[in-house]
Amino acid sequence: MGKGLEGIIAASTGISRIDGINGRLFYRGLDIDDLAKNSTFEETTALLWYGRLPNAHQLESFTKKFIDNRQIPYEVLSLMMAMPKKTPPMEVLRTAVSALSPYDPEDLDNSLEANVHKSLRLTASMPTVMAAWERIRNNQWPILPRNDLSHAANFLYMMTGKEPDPTAAKILDTCLVLHADHGLNASTFAARVTASTLSDLHSAIVSAIGTLKGPLHGGANEQVMRLLLEIGTPDRADQIVRGMLNAKKKIMGFGHRVYKADDPRAAWLQRLSLELSETVGPTKWYEISEKIRHMVQESKALPVNVDFYSASVYYALGIPIDMFTPIFAISRVAGWSAHVYEQYSDNRIIRPESEYIGPNDVPYVPLAQRG
Ligand SMILES: CC(C)(COP(=O)(O)OP(=O)(O)OC[C@H]1O[C@@H](n2cnc3c(N)ncnc32)[C@H](O)[C@@H]1OP(=O)(O)O)[C@@H](O)C(=O)NCCC(=O)NCCS
Repeated sequence: MGKGLEGIIAASTGISRIDGINGRLFYRGLDIDDLAKNSTFEETTALLWYGRLPNAHQLESFTKKFIDNRQIPYEVLSLMMAMPKKTPPMEVLRTAVSALSPYDPEDLDNSLEANVHKSLRLTASMPTVMAAWERIRNNQWPILPRNDLSHAANFLYMMTGKEPDPTAAKILDTCLVLHADHGLNASTFAARVTASTLSDLHSAIVSAIGTLKGPLHGGANEQVMRLLLEIGTPDRADQIVRGMLNAKKKIMGFGHRVYKADDPRAAWLQRLSLELSETVGPTKWYEISEKIRHMVQESKALPVNVDFYSASVYYALGIPIDMFTPIFAISRVAGWSAHVYEQYSDNRIIRPESEYIGPNDVPYVPLAQRG
């Protein structure tokens, strides 16, 4: 038995391919390096959903549909307003995606066409949900989306109320491209398991959000930032990280089930983190990150993963720490949706078996006779 399903092939997919030995990643056959350099989140989403890059006309119409579907129903906003202000954003997102389902005009239609529409509405509106929550919890009114800004820029605008610097918006857009899909990771698997019962797209995305939230998956980026803050200054890194390694504690942002070489997305995020540290500052988060990486990789042969440098990138962009994992979700919903369509297209319920290791032939003792 492969504990944690290690080494088990549980689905066939044409969406993304990870070459874990050489540290490479492809979406629909296109190298992630080319996409990070040249594409946008909107274009990458179209690539994941339709299987190839859109032409200019297709991209224009796809982008317009994205823009037209950014708003969320007032009823969902009211529900969020009723939630305790301390609710972590990932819980709000999980709840809001579920709540959006009955307001979707094609809620009860599970055709491919309806599912593409539903995921378009969800992908377009999840940034609105998160930006609104950031404002609601700080006793501010949510801001309406703007239709002249990109997906990434509009998210930063709705969260802060200020039009973002174009470089910051471009950096966030690149992060969204880098996170959009990644083989049969835990949250994507969760989405596919839910879809395989012929449940609906919203339910599959809710399952995925709940799975992404854990610190061994998407939640790792928040933990990386908390460690950087605990360390505080580069000179303290050595002692703290050495102590963690000696105590056999996991250091978030390292290790991966599939990658044996460094994650190619981490190389991009490292460059973005360096760029931000030199332009926006302070440089210390990047410097501490470099120290941690050096120490971890000197003591253990662990690849650096996508969550390590994304922490210092988002922090430099002024994004609150507990919004880091929601940003992952705002991007990965593109991949989750593509996997749900793929699952429905050739479905068989995903139902593995377990090896029973409990007791056998246990007699039923009447309540009065139990000690
Ligand atoms: C990603 C992860 C969950 C993969 O898990 P996995 O394939 O089941 O691998 P394991 O947790 O069994 O790790 C294998 C070995 O490497 C060690 N290891 C793995 N990740 C580690 C980390 N981040 N820090 C320190 N040691 C780590 C484990 O302790 C284990 O050592 P052992 O064989 O001596 O017991 C795991 O590497 C991890 O927890 N990383 C930190 C969380 C993280 O960054 N998640 C985001 C992933 S994109």
